[in-house]
Amino acid sequence: MKVIGGPSSQLLASRVASALGCELAVCEFKTFPDNEMYIRILDDIGPEAVIVQSTATDSDFMALLQLIDACSTAKRTHVVIPYMGYARQDKIFKKGEALSARAIARTIEADNVITVNIHENSVLDHFKCNAININAAPLIGQYIRDIDQFHQPVILAPDQGAKELAASAAEELGIDYDYLEKKRLSGDTVKVKPKNLDVRDRDVVILDDIVSTGGTMAEAVRLLREQGAADVYVACIHPVLAGSAILKMYQSGVMDVITTDTIEKAVSRISVAPLLAQTLSEL
Ligand code: R5P
Repeated sequence: MKVIGGPSSQLLASRVASALGCELAVCEFKTFPDNEMYIRILDDIGPEAVIVQSTATDSDFMALLQLIDACSTAKRTHVVIPYMGYARQDKIFKKGEALSARAIARTIEADNVITVNIHENSVLDHFKCNAININAAPLIGQYIRDIDQFHQPVILAPDQGAKELAASAAEELGIDYDYLEKKRLSGDTVKVKPKNLDVRDRDVVILDDIVSTGGTMAEAVRLLREQGAADVYVACIHPVLAGSAILKMYQSGVMDVITTDTIEKAVSRISVAPLLAQTLSEL
């Protein structure tokens, strides 16, 4: 296997190659004066190529398409999309809309596609090849369990939709988990609080799949601090962190932001490379 790291996932691709004990190809990435992108793989590709490229932006997606084409000589190609953009538009909500996740998935030519905590599993059905989604939430749970800075931690999902994610980070590690529930107290009063647990004086880690604008997390941090939580941390699989997301979360009183490296940001301190390497070695 030869691992080819796209421009958005160079560090993760390097970690995957190390974990697999296989070679890493060096690529050249350039932008033409008219902003079109030029990509060239400088090393021999060999018979089996693994492309690692997250698609958080449109140009990341364009780079992925070019890398797949540049690997046409390989007998087998595996495409790892650690964070797949557009996966949140997984349904047609209004007449005339594109099913964006399907539009992206249909373009991918490969033998296998691997994603990490894709927003909706139904998106996997739109790929023309075998598609595997891996769950990195237990890595977040392990991190929380192994680091001394957390006291009596509880993992909280910011809403019921992320409850399964919180459960899979906490279960088997002896960490409590819960989710934030909106309760209507009267016609115009809504209270948001953990469904079952009392967070008073406990460290809380709020876990979601994606942090985009940081609005959901900033609001949750504020509420939990009002309810007497000790230190409140934010964790996510995919740190999209659009605009001033980090500033918003710190302004709301978060202690720290913990994420994986599906998108490479300064806060991406947990690597999904071992999980990807394990999955690739089983193909
Ligand atoms: C939504 O479906 C996702 O799971 C996240 O909750 C959402 O992307 C967070 O968005 P934001 O950071 O902009 O509040």
